[in-house]
Amino acid sequence: MNFYLENFDKPQVIVHTYYENDKKIKDLFEGKEGEIVLIPSLDENKPHILYFGLGEKEKLNNNLLRNNCAKLLKKIDELKFKNILIEKIDLGNLDEEKFLKAMVEGLLLTDYDFKKYKSDDKEEIEKNVYIAGFNISNKNDILNEVSNIAKAINNARDMIAEPTNNLYPEELAKRAVEIANESGFKIEVLEEDKIKELGMEAFLTVSKGTKNRPRLIVMEYNNGGDKDFIGLVGKGLTCDTGGYSIKSHEGLKYMKSDMSGAAYVIAIMSSLAKNKCKVNVKAVVATCENVLDGNSYKPGDIVKSMKGKTIEVLNTDAEGRLTLADALYYIIDKQKVSKVIDMATLTGLAGSTFGSLFTPIFSNNDEFYEKFMEIAKETGEDFWRMPLDERYRSYIDSDVADMKNTGSAGTITASMFLKEFVDDTPWIHLDIAATAIQWPVVYEYSSKGASGVTVRTIYELINKGV
Ligand code: BES
Ligand code: ZN
Ligand code: ZN
Repeated sequence: MNFYLENFDKPQVIVHTYYENDKKIKDLFEGKEGEIVLIPSLDENKPHILYFGLGEKEKLNNNLLRNNCAKLLKKIDELKFKNILIEKIDLGNLDEEKFLKAMVEGLLLTDYDFKKYKSDDKEEIEKNVYIAGFNISNKNDILNEVSNIAKAINNARDMIAEPTNNLYPEELAKRAVEIANESGFKIEVLEEDKIKELGMEAFLTVSKGTKNRPRLIVMEYNNGGDKDFIGLVGKGLTCDTGGYSIKSHEGLKYMKSDMSGAAYVIAIMSSLAKNKCKVNVKAVVATCENVLDGNSYKPGDIVKSMKGKTIEVLNTDAEGRLTLADALYYIIDKQKVSKVIDMATLTGLAGSTFGSLFTPIFSNNDEFYEKFMEIAKETGEDFWRMPLDERYRSYIDSDVADMKNTGSAGTITASMFLKEFVDDTPWIHLDIAATAIQWPVVYEYSSKGASGVTVRTIYELINKGV
């Protein structure tokens, strides 16, 4: 999709937007949110007209706008329009910059499909969208910034959609390298011998049953002078069968997406680098696959983490936390970040609690948490805080090791487990098991594939300075 903010060519269709109760509205259209009426032109030299409803003026905010634009684009796609002019919109009380940003986000994030493996449905209509009426001087910068972020998210969606036979740790690392080179951030991929040298037995144990060997992907973007480094960690299971604690048939179907956290971390790095943000960030992905053979790790095994703490593995399907334990410790201890955020498709129970609406958020630092939530209000992504209460620590007590990898109160105990590896470093943990891909879809703009949730919020958080 190409955007133009001036010099409009001959549009095929002109979109007029109205609010509910607008006096100009006549009978067949009420201006309700997402309402669309097409008035076809019978003169081939004149454009068609689309009336588009924005709902009640007082209620409109950027989140509704983002979703409204998604609805509009779906209609445009259905009608196969190529050249679209969106006429000047009455912005009401909303900020012009933020309005434009939300509009373009809604349009670009909706303009996504994964057709790679379809033999005869590859047709893509390249659309030209002319947006009239914005007079701010930095409008092209806004377009550029949002395009870079949307492209990074759509790239992440591609990786998440890619099946396990074609996306395994080595391939994930290869794609990360391509994205790093194209976006302008540093990357290093460590193979097994180096990972062993670092003492990451918790991470390595998950890979014991597969020929697809693990990788530790270490990324860095430093354009922030002497600012502190923020750390990002993403769960990167390219396939999670559960291992000996094998999943059900139903549970096995979607386990190619267990690397969503990794894909989102790569997307955040790409967005920050492409937009040349003045920040310092490091990111780590410990990527592997959890499958089953005679060498696989088994329930009851005891492993030593890089930090030195021992873990009794009572459930081989709780593998994400084993990889994250070493990744979190490594990014804090070796990469010396001052704060860290991890995102992981960690527990199915997150979805039993919130469905796909809210991502559970955990933090050991109120100020960090509050800053995050302030930004999330703007980006329209939904999070809900969960307790990291010390009394839950006993839930992961083991009889034979320093801790075990399961316990009741699944989403919380998973976080208590991770907390053991971050100590006092300000830390946020996001359990995206049910929100990385949403069932049912929550945001109108993410109806195809993964949602991208966390990317825009973390990008803004880092860019605005944490
Ligand atoms: N990757 C899964 C979590 C998951 C489940 C993500 C469904 C997306 C959809 C994770 O590794 C896992 O299996 N977690 C277990 C934890 C349990 C063994 C404590 C789970 O959710 O059952
Ligand atoms: Zn698992
Ligand atoms: Zn998993």
